[in-house]
Amino acid sequence: MALWGGRFTEGPEASLAKLSRSVDFDWRLAQYDIRVNLANVQGLVNSGTITPGNGEIIKAGLKALSVEIANSKFSYIDSDEDVHSAIERGLVEKVGSVGGFIRSGRSRNDLVITDFKLYLIDHLLNVANLVNQLAQTILDAAFNNIEVTAPGFTHLQHAQPISFGHELAKHAQGLLRDISRIEDWLNRNSLSPFGASALAGSPLQLDPEFIAQNLGFDGVLSNSIDAVSDRDFVAEALSIFAIIGVHLSKVGEEFTIWNSKEFNWVQLDDAYSTGSSIMPQKKNPDIAELARGKSGRLIGNLTAILAAMKGLAFAYNRDLQEDKEPTFDSIETLEVLLPAMNGMIASAKFNKKEIEKGAIEGFALATELADYLVQRGVPFSEAHEIAGSAVKYCESKNKELNELNIDELTDIDARLESGVLERLTALGAINSRTSSLGTSFNSVREQISLAKGAASENSLWISNGVKSFSGMMAL
Ligand code: ARG
Repeated sequence: MALWGGRFTEGPEASLAKLSRSVDFDWRLAQYDIRVNLANVQGLVNSGTITPGNGEIIKAGLKALSVEIANSKFSYIDSDEDVHSAIERGLVEKVGSVGGFIRSGRSRNDLVITDFKLYLIDHLLNVANLVNQLAQTILDAAFNNIEVTAPGFTHLQHAQPISFGHELAKHAQGLLRDISRIEDWLNRNSLSPFGASALAGSPLQLDPEFIAQNLGFDGVLSNSIDAVSDRDFVAEALSIFAIIGVHLSKVGEEFTIWNSKEFNWVQLDDAYSTGSSIMPQKKNPDIAELARGKSGRLIGNLTAILAAMKGLAFAYNRDLQEDKEPTFDSIETLEVLLPAMNGMIASAKFNKKEIEKGAIEGFALATELADYLVQRGVPFSEAHEIAGSAVKYCESKNKELNELNIDELTDIDARLESGVLERLTALGAINSRTSSLGTSFNSVREQISLAKGAASENSLWISNGVKSFSGMMAL
């Protein structure tokens, strides 16, 4: 159904109709559109624009339509341009021409953003929940691996020994920040654009505060032109999704490396691995690879919205319809990817022996030697030189630093006395780093317990948010 046409002599040319049509993707907004229309109808009754009797007829029609949509009994047809026109058509089919009143007091310009904001709030809560579950799974894995010593890497070269739980838990920290970004989004963006109408406000809808409250928003935006043209909230959401994508890609990359025959640090469950159509022996870490790959489209979607927003003048422009597909794509990508990652990590078996094997290889204890000397009054620059010469000596003897005996050590420098030997072990090195953010087992235990506490608090606010959102959406 076309929502315009009075001033046109002909209908739209087929190519225009095809270009302009958004119902194939914005149909996802159908239930939110009904909810916003219900609030608007009540607002129009309150202002005396429509009679209470007509209000009841329209509201009953909208509610019946909502049930039909939920049961797939009503959907859009070829002639519907967008979700708003499809809903109006469905309503008029049900209640007759009185249904045409729903278009009063608003425009698709404010309607579409109000629908879209509700959609985003709903799905951001869902994504927050999925990210939080993944963070908890990672923290559980980290907790089980606190006392597993591992080589810590920089530049993919052995650097210093660490607790493997520390390595795993770092991923949870990024994910917890993502959740706090979602919390910020909700705190900043729960303001209703409704009542802006086309761009200037409407004489028929003078109580946008009522609509905002009825829909569960914290308040109303303060400039109607900004309200219909602003898409910061979309760019912010897509930026959060892109950052989540980058985090997942890093987890994916590490699992792919750890799963290689060369590393052999992790065994993935069969249910979370794939085979090869040609090489019968293969078991591939596809989830981890897809996590890495899908970060590309999550980043691309952010770029797409920023490019669409750039340089737009005045109020609503049709360019803004381009805000939806990237958003739906990012959300639907994450809603599929996050549970798969969660399952892959929850069922993964870490090969503790293999991980520990390399903990002190590659002269990873060289810094211990230098730190020990500094604690005995040697300036670090000199200590660094001495430790370097110890590495050189080891290379010539084909030894690791922990294989040096005390005579060899005192030959390298007289200040390397027997106390140094206990530092030249993975456990000695790791457990000397007892600061709050360090890698000692006790520090990591405390870090994981704090992160688990933050995740439990997240579960609480997210489930409260979901409850109050679905309460507000109930018809
Ligand atoms: N489908 C449009 C969108 O998503 C709805 C608003 C249309 N407004 C208009 N003036 N044509 O932005």
